Order: sequence, then C-alpha cells, then structure tokens
Amino acid sequence: MDPLFLTSLGVTVVLLVVVLITGHRAQRNAHYGSVVLFFGALVWAIRQAEIEGRSLVFEGLSATLNQIHFVFVGLDFVLVPLLIWSGVSLARSGSPAVRQRHKQFAAAFVLSVLITCGLGVAMTLTAERVAGS
Ligand code: HEM
Repeated sequence: MDPLFLTSLGVTVVLLVVVLITGHRAQRNAHYGSVVLFFGALVWAIRQAEIEGRSLVFEGLSATLNQIHFVFVGLDFVLVPLLIWSGVSLARSGSPAVRQRHKQFAAAFVLSVLITCGLGVAMTLTAERVAGS
C-alpha cells in the first residue's frame, strides 16, 4: 500500500481520537478545531484511497467487500450532517437530552467510520494489482 495512503489513514484516526478526548473533557475550542482537522484529514484519506484504488482490480471476495464498504460510506455521509446538527444543538442548549443525542450520533459515526476503514483495508489487501502498478 502507498505510504501516503497509510499516513492519511493514520492521521485521520489520531484526529478522531483527539475529537473524542476533547469532547469528553468539554474542551470546546479544541473540540471544534479537531473536528475541522478531522474532516479535512478524512477528505485527504478518501482522495488517497481513490488513487490507491486505480491500481486495483476487485473480483470475488474483494468485490463483495467493496460493495459492503460503499454501503458504510453511504451511512457515514448520512451520519455527518446529523452529527454536526446535534453538536451545534449541544453548543446552544447543553440539555441532557441534546447531549445524549450528540453522544449517540458520535458513537454511531465512530463505529461506522471504523468499519468503513476496516473494510477498505480488507478489500485493498484481497484485491488484485493491475500489472505494472
Ligand atoms: C466527528 C465529529 C464529532 C464527534 C465524534 C464528537 C464527539 C463528541 C463527544 C464524544 C462528546 C462528549 C459528550 C459527553 O461525554 O458529554 C462531545 C461533546 C461536544 N461536542 Fe462533539 N463531536 C463531533 C462533532 C461536533 C460538532 C461538529 C460540534 C458542533 C459545534 C460539536 C459540539 C460539541 C459540544 C458543544 C460538546 C459538549 C462539550 C461540553 O460538554 O462542554 N461536536 N462531542
């Protein structure tokens, strides 16, 4: 795998951990800053994954993993606006119900992103490389 692709994945995961820690510690400014950096890193990782995918052929198991991977990518994209909306609501109100909702969307998003990453790595490792790449 391209070291740049692995680096982008590693940076994204580290920033997600920073987002979770700053959220739990109620360090709001650090939380907002790390959220922005995390989404920036996620876009970078998606771009690197797309470049990596150009030299791969998905057949059999890797094709199945690829299809499941895209279902989770779709779920990630559905959860992002819900997460932002619940975070903005929490910044405004801070009620226990709103906090609970943000935590639930955060947990669902983190789980979905980790599954997406795992499937992405698994389908890359099981795919065939295009000859000469
Ligand atoms: C990747 C995206 C995000 C994740 C994974 C995430 C996760 C979390 C977590 C786990 C908490 C701690 C909740 C608790 O234990 O009470 C939290 C708190 C918080 N988050 Fe997020 N969050 C994300 C995005 C956002 C966004 C976009 C906003 C928008 C403004 C936001 C605003 C807040 C606020 C205001 C708090 C409460 C801090 C406090 O207690 O003072 N979050 N977040």
